[in-house]
Amino acid sequence: MKTLVSPSLLSANFLDLRQEIDMINDSQADWLHMDIMDGSYVPNISFGFPVLNAVGAYCKKPLDVHYMIEHPERYIQHTADAGAMLMTVHQETCPHLHRTLQQIHAAGMKAGVALNPSTPLCMIEDVLTDLDLVLIMSVNPGFGGQKFIEHTIDKVQRLRKMLDAAHSHALIEVDGGVQAETAPRLVKAGVNVLVSGSYVFKSTDPKGTIAALKELKG
Ligand code: DX5
Ligand code: ZN
Repeated sequence: MKTLVSPSLLSANFLDLRQEIDMINDSQADWLHMDIMDGSYVPNISFGFPVLNAVGAYCKKPLDVHYMIEHPERYIQHTADAGAMLMTVHQETCPHLHRTLQQIHAAGMKAGVALNPSTPLCMIEDVLTDLDLVLIMSVNPGFGGQKFIEHTIDKVQRLRKMLDAAHSHALIEVDGGVQAETAPRLVKAGVNVLVSGSYVFKSTDPKGTIAALKELKG
């Protein structure tokens, strides 16, 4: 399977969002990753529904929406209405995770669960076949441009084994510090989807950077 690339809008130039989305539309990016933060679950606030709706209406790539907020279940319908293809919630924010995943599916979206660097894989053991994607955080959520946490490689390898053993079709996505040095190692470890913010958007050739990430093979 080809590596999927989901550039993270968090590192885009917000004064020139149309131009940034034009670049994404014209690139080989598979999805567009959108980080929604509430300043409570994570110590930062990014953007909310006005931006999600506007980008959803203009972007030709499927939206991969990553919620770093408390009570993400309140916003399932909003997210579906904005045209999102995938809604990912943090395991740590969902006491009734199975129900939330069912509600995301009922709203017509794919369902993902994100795990913080300190959250063990066993927390999703009982929902592996209810998931379309597992998002492994390779930095602590909240900010772009942070340093990659090395134990992610081992975590991805263990998750790959868990998913195969459970016959789960869920994709493995990694988010945080994905760049030239970490991306090939992640793909070799079993990652299907690379999220990349600063490495793509701060690059002198963002489309070329996306194309190079897509070439990586496991
Ligand atoms: C961080 C976000 C990421 C962020 C990644 O909490 O979830 O999506 O944009 O940024 P980079 O690729 O710069 O580490
Ligand atoms: Zn993210």
